[in-house]
Amino acid sequence: MASAVLLEGITKRFPGVIANDGVNLDVAEGEIHAICGENGAGKSTLMKILYGMQPADEGRMVVNGQEVKFSSPKEAIALGIGMVHQHFMLADNLSVLENVILGAEPAKNGIIDFPEARRHIIELGEDYGLKVGTRDLVESLEVGERQRIEIIKVLFRGAKILILDEPTAVLVPQEVEELFRNMRELKANGHTIIFIDHKLDEVLEIADTITVIRAGKTIDTVKPEDVTARDLAELMVGSELPVPETRESTVTDHVVIEAVDAAADDDAGSPKLRAVSMKVHKGEILGIAGVEGNGQAEFVEALMGMRPLTSGSISLEGVRMKGWGTRQRREAGIGYIPEDRTRRGLLAGFPLWENAMLGQQSMEPYVRNGFWIQREAARSHTGKIVEQFDVRTPSVDVAAHALSGGNQQKLIVGREMSAELVALIAAHPTRGIDVGAQAAVWEELRQARATGLAVILISADLEELIGLSDRLVVMLRGDIVAELDPTKVTPRDLGSYMTGASTQGGES
Ligand SMILES: Nc1ncnc2c1ncn2[C@@H]1O[C@H](COP(=O)(O)OP(=O)(O)OP(=O)(O)O)[C@@H](O)[C@H]1O
Ligand SMILES: [Mg+2]
Repeated sequence: MASAVLLEGITKRFPGVIANDGVNLDVAEGEIHAICGENGAGKSTLMKILYGMQPADEGRMVVNGQEVKFSSPKEAIALGIGMVHQHFMLADNLSVLENVILGAEPAKNGIIDFPEARRHIIELGEDYGLKVGTRDLVESLEVGERQRIEIIKVLFRGAKILILDEPTAVLVPQEVEELFRNMRELKANGHTIIFIDHKLDEVLEIADTITVIRAGKTIDTVKPEDVTARDLAELMVGSELPVPETRESTVTDHVVIEAVDAAADDDAGSPKLRAVSMKVHKGEILGIAGVEGNGQAEFVEALMGMRPLTSGSISLEGVRMKGWGTRQRREAGIGYIPEDRTRRGLLAGFPLWENAMLGQQSMEPYVRNGFWIQREAARSHTGKIVEQFDVRTPSVDVAAHALSGGNQQKLIVGREMSAELVALIAAHPTRGIDVGAQAAVWEELRQARATGLAVILISADLEELIGLSDRLVVMLRGDIVAELDPTKVTPRDLGSYMTGASTQGGES
């Protein structure tokens, strides 16, 4: 089989870091090729080099048999390479149509040919089973839909070689199945796909070939039929595959957070959360399961004071938080790991030490005796987070955007978990984190729970949700539709409650 992409000895250095250290990669034409490796191993960097976003310092690139040197993505696109990034790059305030054609507008007599563009997008959608509404505003779309737009955008530019950087990280299991159907469809039509994924069972299901990268070097290239998930984990991080387990219960009857008939609207003013009631106790992890868009986000925003309740109440340690802003809630000891790290979790251009005190600027150890920011305290505190949570970085002074995606996530988790908390709202805490670091975050959550933290855990990783939670509730269309015992439920059962295929009538 001919190679669609051949990379030889690719080396890329950043200040203090060798991101790629002589990487080799051979991707056959028409295959689905997975790239695995721990956070910071150099996967995204390698893909950005292939896409012409960053020049390599050394090495050779051959695309479709032709040696290439790209100085911009434009040149890669011209050779049929397209990339969907780890962090989406759509413009929220534009329509789907405008987003797709942006920078590649088809023109007739010098005017943008919108009807032709719309026809082409609809045709692509039909060919590959990628359903999209061309007139919708991107800000109104769910993540799964945004991703489909990103893929269409790449196909619209004529890509034959598609690079997908962690496409499944933001998807719920049902959406992953749909993405995999799309990927198989693309492959059947002669496309080559290179994709990055931390979920090893997914990699084994969809990939034809797997290349493992560690610390910027190619470790091995294997076939899924020859390896297990455990083998892959060992190749990646050199240790065994961890399992999420909570161990003995630490749940008390001391209620920390209580929601009573809490209701809220979405931004457009339609009801999104309908009379939700729940209690979370000291020492308890309450898992919230649900397909994205069923009110979980609104609930979390209401809890953090970012969205008003239209009725009902939420209290902390018996005190209603009505009228409290986000800062007051944080000061009262609620930690928050947000779902969208680039929009809500980090200031990309600021150094790690400033990011490490975001949301806590007004608290110890950053402010002492009424004085403003203690810079050295902040730097040394950041150093501790970096060490404890294994954030791979040359120093605490680099900008947050210089960290790999998973290391950004580890920094946020570390920041939130190192504050003095009574409660923690953790939305997808291990999203984009490699299997080794995931185990470390699980252990931190268990330890925090053992010392009395009340945790609300939201996760699309059903094994994580089942493994860590003491109690599980399922949200569907803004309601809690089931309460389940995690020791008795399988991911499959949970999935069918999430879609409404199973319901909790009298029988359970
Ligand atoms: N623009 C940059 N400036 C400085 N350092 C960078 C930059 N981009 C990446 N790095 C560094 O290069 C290394 C590899 O990063 P990369 O994003 O390729 O990792 P990755 O394998 O994609 O990890 P993840 O699974 O967390 O996404 C990291 O140590 C990162 O900090
Ligand atoms: Mg990456």
